[in-house]
Formats: sequence, C-alpha cells, structure tokens
Amino acid sequence: MSRSAHPAGPRHADVLPEGHYTAPPTDLNVLDEKVWARTVGRNDDGVVTVGGMEVTRLAEEFGTPAYFLDEADFRARCRAWADAFGKDADVFYAGKAFLSRAVVRWLKEEGLNLDVCSGGELTTALDAGMPADRIAFHGNNKSQEEIDRAVEAGVGRIVVDSFQEIVRVAHTAQRLGTRQRVQIRVTVGVEAHTHEFIATAHEDQKFGIPLAGGQAAEAVRRALRLDGIELIGIHSHIGSQIFDTSGFEVAAHRVVRLLAEIRDEHGIELPEIDLGGGLGIAYTSDDDPREPHDIAKALNEIVTRECEAARLRTPRISVEPGRAIVGPTAFTLYEVGTIKPLEGLRTYVSVDGGMSDNIRTALYDAEYSVALVSRTSTAGPMLARVVGKHCESGDIVVKDAFLPADLAPGDLIAVPATGAYCRSMASNYNHALRPPVVAVTDGEARVIVRRETEEDLLRLDVG
Ligand code: LLP
Repeated sequence: MSRSAHPAGPRHADVLPEGHYTAPPTDLNVLDEKVWARTVGRNDDGVVTVGGMEVTRLAEEFGTPAYFLDEADFRARCRAWADAFGKDADVFYAGKAFLSRAVVRWLKEEGLNLDVCSGGELTTALDAGMPADRIAFHGNNKSQEEIDRAVEAGVGRIVVDSFQEIVRVAHTAQRLGTRQRVQIRVTVGVEAHTHEFIATAHEDQKFGIPLAGGQAAEAVRRALRLDGIELIGIHSHIGSQIFDTSGFEVAAHRVVRLLAEIRDEHGIELPEIDLGGGLGIAYTSDDDPREPHDIAKALNEIVTRECEAARLRTPRISVEPGRAIVGPTAFTLYEVGTIKPLEGLRTYVSVDGGMSDNIRTALYDAEYSVALVSRTSTAGPMLARVVGKHCESGDIVVKDAFLPADLAPGDLIAVPATGAYCRSMASNYNHALRPPVVAVTDGEARVIVRRETEEDLLRLDVG
C-alpha cells in the first residue's frame, strides 16, 4: 500500500519521520465503519460500545487485553456469504482464522460448512456438533493419525496435497471399509498480489501439486486408479488478503482447463471445484474490500464462461473465506501504559499486550488502525506507534497511527479488525497469558475462550 507522509504531524515534532501514514483524520473521535464491527459506535458520553455494551464496562468485567467479538456481525457475514453463493455452491468457513466451539455452533446454525486443517480443529468442530459431512480436511502434511480420524469421522472431503497422501488416504479408507471423497489441491502458478508469506499459488512453495509439467494430471490418474478414493474435484487457494479477482480468474481458467483434460483423457467430468479463500478485508480506511455478493457474481461468471468455452458442465463451486467472515467482527481492547514521546520521531504508546496477541504486524508488516475508545478527546493528533510489552523491539501492534495528543496511561484504546489470525496465532512469548475472546451481542457479553492463567502455564511445565 503506498502512502505518503503528511505535512502536519505530532505536536512535539517539527520534522516528520518516514512512515506509512496518511493525513490524520479531521476528527479522531470518528470511527470509520469500514474497519469496525457493525454494532460498534460511541454513546452520548463518548464511550465506544459494541453490542450495546460500553468498552469501559467490558474492560472492568473481563480485563485487558481482550478480544471482543460482535456475534451479530459474525452471523450476518455468514449469511451474506451463504446468500451470495446460493444453493448451488458451498461456503466453507476457514477455521484457521479463528475457531472455538461457539463459532462452530454459529456456523452450523447459519448453514455454513467448515474447513479444518489439523486434528485439533477437527476435534473442536466435531465436539461442538458440526456434522462430519459438512467438514473439509486440509493440510500439506496430515499425519496418519489425522487421516484415520478424518476418514473414521466421515468428513465430507479430504483435500489431498501430495502424491503420498493420495495413497495414504486411499489405503486408510480401504482399511476402514469405506470410500473417501477427495479433492486434489493444485498450484496454478499465479502470483497473488499479497505478502510473500501468505501467497500460495506460485509453484515454489510447499502447498499443492503443480499443474505445471503435468504433475496435477498425474495425481488425478493415480487417484482415479485407487478404490478407496472418490475423486470429486480440484482445489485451488491462491493466497490471502487479496482485493482483486484477477488472480481467481487465472486460477479458475487453469483449473477448468485441467477438468477438460481429465474429461478428454478419462471420459469423466469432475463435479466440483473449490477456489479457496483469501478475500481481503479493511484493516485501515485505505482498504476497499468487495462485498460477498460481488465476489460470488464475479467467480460464478468466470467459472461459467470458462466451462462454456471448454464445453463442460459447470461444476459446483465452493469457497473458503476465513478472514472475510471473522476478521472485521472483533477488536482488541488494550489499556495504555507508558507513553514515550521521542523528539523528532514519534510517540511510543505501550499497551498491556503486543506481539503475543497480534503477531501479524511483526510477521507480515500488516497495517492496523487504532482509536481511543474510553472517552473522546479534543486534543490534536499525535503520530503514535502502538507497541506491546514484550522483550523485542519488533513488538509493534500498530506501526503508524494518529492518536489524540492528550492520551494518558489508563486510557483504553482498541485495534479493530483483529478477529482473524490474531487469537488463532497468539503465543505465550515471555509467558504472556493469551487473552480471552468475549462474544458480545444485544447487551450481553459472554466469554467464549477464557483468558489463560498462570496455572495454565505451570500445568504444562512438568519438569
Ligand atoms: N483455504 C485454504 C486452503 C487456506 O490455506 C486458507 C488460509 C483459507 C482458505 C482462508 O484464507 P482467508 O480467507 O482467511 O484469507 N496467517 C495469515 C493468513 C494465512 C492463511 C492461510 N490459509 C494472516 O494472518 O494473514
């Protein structure tokens, strides 16, 4: 994202440092609805509320740092995705973005399916009552034990990721006297426009079987020869936090070309294709994500057009949004601790969490927004860097953002759009206690993942 330094700046500095920031908003008290969960707003006292509850009260009751998740927003986004794709397609929520038993129940109630990628996610899904046939099992290195459990449970599909796995799944299914529905994950050779660590369709990386050199076609040949497998389709996931559909277009084109080759060689038309997840969300006011309806329309048109050109029946499409469903629904609430103005640079605002509850800034150079939420302020903007309390200078939560210059220890600030890949990637670095996830809706707040305790840490330490 290209952004330019703004001529105005922090009160305490005449010269502005290099940075990725745009002009400070004219009113720092205004919350950009693009980046905040749907029920978030400010009440007459200037306190931010979510689901009808004041953040000051939530902080008192649940402590900080904590993730607050707007359940109504989560459910609305599930419905928006399901409605957009309609009954001729399947939406699988990608559990890696954030998974808990409550989330599984919401998905089940809203009619979504679930993509899991580990034994732990599978256990959570089954334990919370997701019907196995609505589960897809992913992963580039599934253990034999995970394959056994997935096949035994009767998952709706296993997305196989290597030649070895095709054989393993087939043998497992045979041993268990069943036939496993399988999709083959291919890499289509697309460079998705996103951070290198979250791009997954170019060939030089660990996921999938390349279309290049006929490797995917060979995987199909082998799968079709094995009795334990029912090959139902081809899977492609090009990466994450993607805003334009051109990468999906190329992916769909290449996947459909493979379907046509399979028809020509084997005389069968595979009934399904999965285009993966990866749709971007707004982390800052500069991001402009597309609506599910728009995305569904674009993907359906691309697949239909490609299939018509190849004279194939249009397969059933599935997609796997994770971030686009849960990401915007939550924010992290922190209490401000020490504040250090660095002359000519910026002001370092330390909070009571950090890279242990949000690793994305350090890992992907991700950008976030932040706002003072326990009160309003009429003070001017101060260029701030929100940092955590870990023993690492890269422990940054928000790299460059404007906060009111009268910010003080004890104020509450919140970072929006932290529903995806924050709690799910949280760590115990420095023996930090991972924060709770609190679901808020209609004036009620309920812990769905509790805060870790020091007893939890000591329980694992058995030396
Ligand atoms: N399907 C497959 C096969 C995936 O590998 C992923 C994400 C998804 C769906 C969901 O993608 P989403 O819609 O959430 O972008 N930790 C990184 C993202 C890694 C994504 C891994 N796979 C981040 O924080 O940005």
